[in-house]
Amino acid sequence: MTHPTIIAPSVLAADWGRLHEQVRAVQDAGADWLHLDVMDGHLVENISFGPAFCDCVAKAAKVPLDVHLMITRPDTFWQRFAKFAKMITIHVEAACDVAATLRAIRGAGIQCGITLKPGTPFSLIEPFLGDVDLVLVMTVEPGFGGQPFIPEMLEKVRAAREIRSARGLAYRIEVDGGINAATGKSSIEAGADTLVAGTSVFAAPDMAAAIRAIRGAE
Ligand code: DX5
Ligand code: ZN
Repeated sequence: MTHPTIIAPSVLAADWGRLHEQVRAVQDAGADWLHLDVMDGHLVENISFGPAFCDCVAKAAKVPLDVHLMITRPDTFWQRFAKFAKMITIHVEAACDVAATLRAIRGAGIQCGITLKPGTPFSLIEPFLGDVDLVLVMTVEPGFGGQPFIPEMLEKVRAAREIRSARGLAYRIEVDGGINAATGKSSIEAGADTLVAGTSVFAAPDMAAAIRAIRGAE
């Protein structure tokens, strides 16, 4: 089972002083989804934004919202994103019942994803692969945009693809962090079909060309 490539620009890298303008511009530039990087300053070493900010993005969004909860307690917070999220992804490192939280998200009719930090072995997410719609392989240490891509993470992308095929599963495989035309190409070759890109899109003079280049359409 493979999926058409999705480009999901990360709003973390947008100019928040003109948020709605940036949302409209990146959608017009070809974004398939918008990626929302929620950080609690506990699971990761940064605090970004919360449900009220995401709700503000949702007011201008015409494409699905892909919510990445980099928070220690997604079990108590995921519902705050439920009214506008197409996808809610939680970290396997979270301090909660991950399986129960994934079930609860799906039970609300929202797609669910599982993700892991670069230092977390892929084996820790294997128990959940049968119960998710997306696997997100972090290709940087989560917490900040603009970091360099960690190529060793492609091993996890290949593992996700192999298990999906061996077990007849259908989840999307997403990568997040340091994605540009070159790292996007190697990620797609390894099996990724959903690419989060913040800096390489929002800092680009031509966002549409940047998105086409990551998609491999250039
Ligand atoms: C890290 C964030 C970033 C962001 C994308 O926690 O998740 O990876 O989405 O950042 P860039 O594309 O600027 O590396
Ligand atoms: Zn993210």
